[in-house]
Amino acid sequence: MKEKFRLAVLASGGGTNLQSLIDQSQSGRLDAEIVLVICNNPNAGALVRAENAGIRNICINHRDFTERQSFDQKVVDVLKEAQPDLIVLAGFMRIISSVFLKAFPQRIINIHPSLLPAFPGLHVQRKAIEYGARFSGCTVHFVDDGVDTGPIILQAVVPIHTDDTEESLSARILEQEHRIYPKQFSGLPRNVFKSLTARL
Ligand code: GRF
Repeated sequence: MKEKFRLAVLASGGGTNLQSLIDQSQSGRLDAEIVLVICNNPNAGALVRAENAGIRNICINHRDFTERQSFDQKVVDVLKEAQPDLIVLAGFMRIISSVFLKAFPQRIINIHPSLLPAFPGLHVQRKAIEYGARFSGCTVHFVDDGVDTGPIILQAVVPIHTDDTEESLSARILEQEHRIYPKQFSGLPRNVFKSLTARL
């Protein structure tokens, strides 16, 4: 039997992106297996979602560590045991340090709620409205040592309406996030993704 691509998902919040990966995985549409979920926030809904789906889940609270690097080292140690092919950041609200990047070169991807390279960072839906942008969207990208700067894998575009609020735009973008994040794993042989990451 073909071995499935092994995903480790890192999240900090509600975990709706994690849920979309779980749903697609359970319905057989995701050609990948979620082997581990790690959260830095003990109250993250993502932990409950993983538990409900029977996925191994661990909370590593960043507040228990005095330095970012030691927190990252702990996360790396736990991840290495799980032997993931790819680390999927899904609303993980921590900046990734060099310790993490060096441990998994070209093996970390993120989803961001704007059309990068426009609006990196935080509160980007509000910034797009305030700027007067007519379109926004979401971007799946490899993680490098910048903030939301790595090579782009997939994007989806949504319109910005004149009466949009941060909440309404966020909801429209999130719908697309749930659609595109699992998409890249559907029907994707693991060696295709491996050769893609090797080229970067
Ligand atoms: C998403 O908008 C994601 O793009 C951003 O954080 C949000 C996480 O949402 N990085 P959820 O926890 O997956 O519901």
